Amino acid sequence: MHPQRRTVFKLAGAGALAVSAPLGLSACSADPTGGNARTRTTNNRQLRVKKTDIPVGSGVIYPDDGYVVTQPTAGQFEAFSDVCPHQGCPVRQITSDNRIHCLCHNSYFAIADGTVLDGPAPTGLARATFVAEGDEIVVKGVK
Ligand code: FES
Repeated sequence: MHPQRRTVFKLAGAGALAVSAPLGLSACSADPTGGNARTRTTNNRQLRVKKTDIPVGSGVIYPDDGYVVTQPTAGQFEAFSDVCPHQGCPVRQITSDNRIHCLCHNSYFAIADGTVLDGPAPTGLARATFVAEGDEIVVKGVK
């Protein structure tokens, strides 16, 4: 008696499924680490950088070596692992207000000591050992 009305409902139902399925699949299959997650492990790579390359009040991330080197105040240097303690993404940004930023889930760390300032990271960045040699900082590893 109302075949046209029944047809309309079927189309609406199919349309709703077509719209919702990609959202569900997207949420389930997304890799929040962008495929770059690492677990925190010992890093014995040595990194040698010029002190003048590290801006005062900020820092530089060295992704190939896995370190962040900072200079919170003039002449005071710090070094950290670049592995975010939340889910292992490498931190990849120093923000304009000089915080170390993990882009995966927006954890922020202090350049002075690597502590968590905001976000889901349960702990701060691991400290790296380093020495000052003349005009260079030599980062020796993370234990
Ligand atoms: S891995 Fe989640 S905030 Fe860094």
